[in-house]
Amino acid sequence: MSMRTHPCGTLNAAHIGQRVTLCGWANRRRDHGGVIFVDLRDREGIAQTVFDPANADTFHLAERVRNEYVLRVTGQVRRRPGGTENANLPSGEVEVLCEQLEILNGAQPLPFQLDEDGVGEETRLRFRYIDLRRPEMATRLRLRARITRQLREFLDAHGFLDMETPCLTKATPEGARDYLVPSRTHSGSFFALPQSPQLFKQLLMMSGFERYYQFARCFRDEDLRADRQPEFTQLDIETSFMDENEIMTLMEQMMRELFAKTLEVALPNPFPRMSHFDAMRRYGVDKPDLRVPMELVDVGDLMRDVEFKVFAAPASDSRGRVAALNVPGGGALTRKEIDDYTQFVAAHGAKGLAYIKVNDAALGREGLQSPILKFLPDEVIAEIMRRTRAQTGDLIFFGADSAKVVNDSLGALRVKLGHDRGLIEHGFRPLWVTDFPLFERSDDDQRWQALHHPFTAPKTDDVAALEQNPGACLSRAYDMVLNGTELGGGSVRIHKPEMQSAVFKLLGIGAEEAGEKFGFLLEALKYGAPPHGGIAFGLDRLVMLMTGSQSIREVIAFPKTQTAACPLTGAPTPTGEAQLRELHIRLRQPGKA
Ligand code: AMO
Ligand code: AMP
Repeated sequence: MSMRTHPCGTLNAAHIGQRVTLCGWANRRRDHGGVIFVDLRDREGIAQTVFDPANADTFHLAERVRNEYVLRVTGQVRRRPGGTENANLPSGEVEVLCEQLEILNGAQPLPFQLDEDGVGEETRLRFRYIDLRRPEMATRLRLRARITRQLREFLDAHGFLDMETPCLTKATPEGARDYLVPSRTHSGSFFALPQSPQLFKQLLMMSGFERYYQFARCFRDEDLRADRQPEFTQLDIETSFMDENEIMTLMEQMMRELFAKTLEVALPNPFPRMSHFDAMRRYGVDKPDLRVPMELVDVGDLMRDVEFKVFAAPASDSRGRVAALNVPGGGALTRKEIDDYTQFVAAHGAKGLAYIKVNDAALGREGLQSPILKFLPDEVIAEIMRRTRAQTGDLIFFGADSAKVVNDSLGALRVKLGHDRGLIEHGFRPLWVTDFPLFERSDDDQRWQALHHPFTAPKTDDVAALEQNPGACLSRAYDMVLNGTELGGGSVRIHKPEMQSAVFKLLGIGAEEAGEKFGFLLEALKYGAPPHGGIAFGLDRLVMLMTGSQSIREVIAFPKTQTAACPLTGAPTPTGEAQLRELHIRLRQPGKA
């Protein structure tokens, strides 16, 4: 005989009269004038069980039941008495009159109740196995499993092979610090955990597999945020003989099918595409949230000769920018709110936040209110109004600084205002961002660095042209963006050894260093490497967006905290002297360099 006959949550009126056996957790026990009710919960939901004092043995046993006891209950399904149905439960029309009760296990009082609000994250993670009993957590992780299954089905149907790549490997440059693993058998040497399977998937293309995918665990030691974890999961994909258009078309088809089948949401066909240049110009970021209708508008050309130096200087500087952001209905913002937004942009480096309030658009200068109005000639004001399409009741914010500061600050302000002012459209707004520069200047401005990774193909096949003007060269990379989150990124790769060597050289990686770090790749490129390209999606971010969660920690069963620790296991932990010795490691003493 099996341990149970039905999952609790699936009972309904069709089972009335049947004898069933259920297993689950005591979600709640209520004593009602001689009768005991226990809501029994399993992963499918809740069933109400009833214990009648007439059946003295089970009744007395039921008196001992506490929250989260694990029970096995056998009894008859019957209709609940009129007026006691629960329309919120799928099993709400029925209850089980208990004949036999077995307490499979007891439970101590929980550190927090499953329906308790505001439990601290540290506590939730410390007792994650209890936290995961909350229906909303269980629902998210079950949707995650449906999402990966659906993605696998799509990829299998399109000829992609599920292949694994090593976790103990060599550094893969994706821009973060590596997690290192000391080698016992090679004294003084370390493996790096992969930041992505990038090089192995390229090698699989050189091995002739043509279409690969993997749900790959990636490790990056970087500053953590709501959408970043030190270990996270990518849906990693690589193909041979497909160009960027074919790859983007197939990948957005995969996303459309995923959203249609799991959420019954129709994503646009095709996804809009936008160049990196336009994204920065219109939204100030390379991952625009298209749900926010406001856009940045350039006004630098109007400001070169104005008296206000704060505007005139960046307007005349090739690396400066002066931009405006019209906030519909923003005229209602109070002085205090404007001050708060000024502080908000200051965190992004802005030195101020000039504004014009449009009290009456028909009155020209007289209808406007602003600390900077006195500096601006009539024709400049008229042109600002025209470009921003500001109406009576709106407010126009201005940023003037280096292009980076203006983009960072107004880009973030745009999204914040969208949330604060209720200007966010409902639903999902995906897009592709394309035509990225191949290189950007490093923070110290001393060298070039790859905007994606150094294996990304430039638009040109001409090595000499690339070397002549690296800063002007665009790449064959593409990012998929959804509601302001970078969901995935990929590119067509370099498949010629000469081009790969030239790119390493431009990045300041000399022949010797290139040989040391990526010699195996340069070598493999010589033995018949097909044109290839691919993409990797952040699975945790995808599930976060699809479940409407605020952080990827809400969709990972056992995530790390903001300081990259695990409160459940206590990892990371110090290790003993014997193990260190075996690994040929001596620790630095604290305080000594
Ligand atoms: P990239 O570095 O853009 O590309 O990573 C791909 C996607 O992975 C997700 N992601 C993360 N998710 C959670 N926590 C993190 N710390 C984290 N870092 C990245 C993002 C991102 O878009 N090898 C290339 C892909 C390729 O070229 O095919 C790569 O790893 O959603
Ligand atoms: P000030 O002349 O410094 O009092 O500035 C006048 C207005 O310009 C104030 O509203 C400031 O917030 C704003 N402001 C100052 N610096 C900048 C800047 N770099 N970008 C945008 N607005 C600024």
